[in-house]
Amino acid sequence: MALQRALVLGLALLCHGVIASAPGFAAAETKALDQHTQGSAPRRLHGRFLHITDLHPDEFYRVHSSTDETDACHRGHGPAGTYGAETSDCDTPFSLVNATFDWIAANLKDEIDFVVWTGDSARHDSDEDLPRNQGQVLGTNRWIADKFAELFAAPSGHGLAIPVVPTFGNNDILPHNILLPGPNKWLQTYAQIWRKFIPEEQRHSFEFGGWFYTEVVPDRLAVFSLNTLYFFDRNAGVDDCASPSEPGYKQLEWLRVQLQFMRQRGMKAILMGHVPPARTESKQLWGEVCWQKYTLWLRQYRDVIVAGLYGHMNIDHFLLQDTHDIDFGLLSGAADGVVSTRESMEDELSAQSTADYLQELRDGWAKLDPPAAGSSGRVKEDKKGRKGKKSKDIWGERYQLSLVSPSIVPNYFPTLRVLEYNITGLEDAPVWADPFQTFEAPATQEDTQKHLDLRNTFEYDVEVGSASKKKKGKKHRGKKPKNPKFVLPEAPSKSSPPGPAYSQQPLSLTGYTQYFANLTHINNLTLDVSAVWDGDESDSDAPSSWLDGIAWLLKWRKGKHGGKKPKAPKPDPREFQFEVEYSTFHDKIYKLGDLTVNSFVDLAYRIGENDKSGGKSALADAEGRDFDDDEVESADAEDDDEEEEEDESEFDDDDDEFEADKKKKGNKDKKKKKKKKKK
Ligand SMILES: *[C@@H]1O[C@H](CO)[C@@H](O)[C@H](O)[C@H]1NC(C)=O
Ligand SMILES: *[C@@H]1O[C@H](CO)[C@@H](O)[C@H](O)[C@H]1NC(C)=O
Ligand SMILES: *[C@@H]1O[C@H](CO)[C@@H](O)[C@H](O)[C@H]1NC(C)=O
Ligand SMILES: *[C@@H]1O[C@H](CO)[C@@H](O)[C@H](O)[C@H]1NC(C)=O
Repeated sequence: MALQRALVLGLALLCHGVIASAPGFAAAETKALDQHTQGSAPRRLHGRFLHITDLHPDEFYRVHSSTDETDACHRGHGPAGTYGAETSDCDTPFSLVNATFDWIAANLKDEIDFVVWTGDSARHDSDEDLPRNQGQVLGTNRWIADKFAELFAAPSGHGLAIPVVPTFGNNDILPHNILLPGPNKWLQTYAQIWRKFIPEEQRHSFEFGGWFYTEVVPDRLAVFSLNTLYFFDRNAGVDDCASPSEPGYKQLEWLRVQLQFMRQRGMKAILMGHVPPARTESKQLWGEVCWQKYTLWLRQYRDVIVAGLYGHMNIDHFLLQDTHDIDFGLLSGAADGVVSTRESMEDELSAQSTADYLQELRDGWAKLDPPAAGSSGRVKEDKKGRKGKKSKDIWGERYQLSLVSPSIVPNYFPTLRVLEYNITGLEDAPVWADPFQTFEAPATQEDTQKHLDLRNTFEYDVEVGSASKKKKGKKHRGKKPKNPKFVLPEAPSKSSPPGPAYSQQPLSLTGYTQYFANLTHINNLTLDVSAVWDGDESDSDAPSSWLDGIAWLLKWRKGKHGGKKPKAPKPDPREFQFEVEYSTFHDKIYKLGDLTVNSFVDLAYRIGENDKSGGKSALADAEGRDFDDDEVESADAEDDDEEEEEDESEFDDDDDEFEADKKKKGNKDKKKKKKKKKK
């Protein structure tokens, strides 16, 4: 089950023993937690929240149907299990959605402070015989929203006990990927579906752009729900974030202003969205200007931002945005035009581009400089003081972290994450209370009517056809951004300490525990082994090497049981449960002391080094543990610090240097820092 990350980390299946062998852990931990939440004392912070993503409920899923591409678990006879067809491209049966919510109710509900829910609560459009319609897309979305509202209902019966922060996925609209600038009927409809989740004073702006934030810990921590569809390269209904008329531009302006307020109030912010800011050498998911601004904003508000949390990819991995990639020429509009040489990525999972993307991530990490920090991610105090001109980037502020969570939809196994954050000093802080506890508008007949009209309205004011055509001519993005005046957001004050993403402090993320449901075990299928196996190796259990892994991603996956038939006439599943897949607090391969950027730079560096030292054979290596021991040691070596004195810290706290850097840009290959070569 380390499968998901194996694809990224190249550890193949070796980590199973290490990671997934602690089923008792979850139960034990949960029990311990129960003890101090008994009784009806006022809610206090637990320092823990749930990230759940990509549920993809499919009302047409049939147990014992075929996982073949033409059947998509909707028909035929085959190995589709009671709770889903693990490792296939089939969507999620309602039973899995129900079981997931039941499990959360029994095991997490009272132990978390808020929920981050990053979208895609409708099935994929993968069955030609059953094209999606609006009633279905909104229907499953409404159902899931109601399930969250029910699960986290306040004891009083009105409103919610804890905040739930939703966002759209690219499959939550029709046609998928295409969301026009607001206000529009889709945004209005989601404003209604999520009425319990969007703070009332922001409903109006939500209808305008689909973005909002919730103060999940009042006056301390806000979660920003970004409408990434307005950044998404495949949204043919909008352009890149260069022109003030574009919704992506407006969203970033809104974000900039809000982050400034957050700073003034001494608050911290978690950013979340559906489509992650993935950008490798040749591929990307966001428009280039959107990515550029986002990265710059995060740089300038690094004293405020805790982390970025995303979904969409259904693969457990992380991204490091490199601020050295910020191109001021492009941002200020001084350049002739916005020319992106990167291709947009195909839809999630389906294509070569996803495989290339993962490989490119690893290739990028192989070029990382050895991190300044030790492998624990905890940086020694900078004795010279951070303001010394030549001090190097000991906090890793060159990079920004985006965590991409795997999905509930069992492309591998259903998965969810419980993240932990530092609540030192906040143990008795006032908690979020639902302002709707006293008043709650029921859905009216009129609301329902609106949804039914939605499709028509959409087609009426959208011209989907011409939008798609424009998309084809992607090469022509090189038009001049009309952007007049580019505002460089304010940097943190020079005296402010490193932000929560960089140094462990209250509200920093400390780690996460990832849970999975072993559907092979739970579905308890008895398959006819004599059934003809079509010899398609790539559909077998899992990739046995990194390269197989790539082949395995390329097409519709029938899953590990593809082509087989159940022997028993009736399904006979075992009891459903999630178990711990791994925890960053204990994982021997990740070795993440915490979730600071330095910890991830160090991990990425180790992965890159592993690849360089013949990653492939290391993969085949049975223990997999020797994969990084040497590197860890060298990264830990403290005396390295002095040697790297020359390391140019392109971004100092100094804004002047930041400005100066704009001019240096273009001098692309200056980054020839000496590599610490092992021996
Ligand atoms: C899921 O739960 C709902 C009640 O919340 C129930 O009506 C429905 O039948 C359940 N579906 C399945 C497939 O278990
Ligand atoms: C949380 O932050 C406090 C204060 O900065 C620090 O002392 C503590 O070690 C942090 N906790 C964890 C688990 O890192
Ligand atoms: C899942 O269950 C199957 C069947 O019981 C078992 O063979 C397999 O090892 C399990 N996988 C993990 C990752 O626990
Ligand atoms: C699982 O499958 C086996 C074999 O068909 C059956 O004997 C058993 O009752 C099933 N259910 C459970 C809960 O183990």
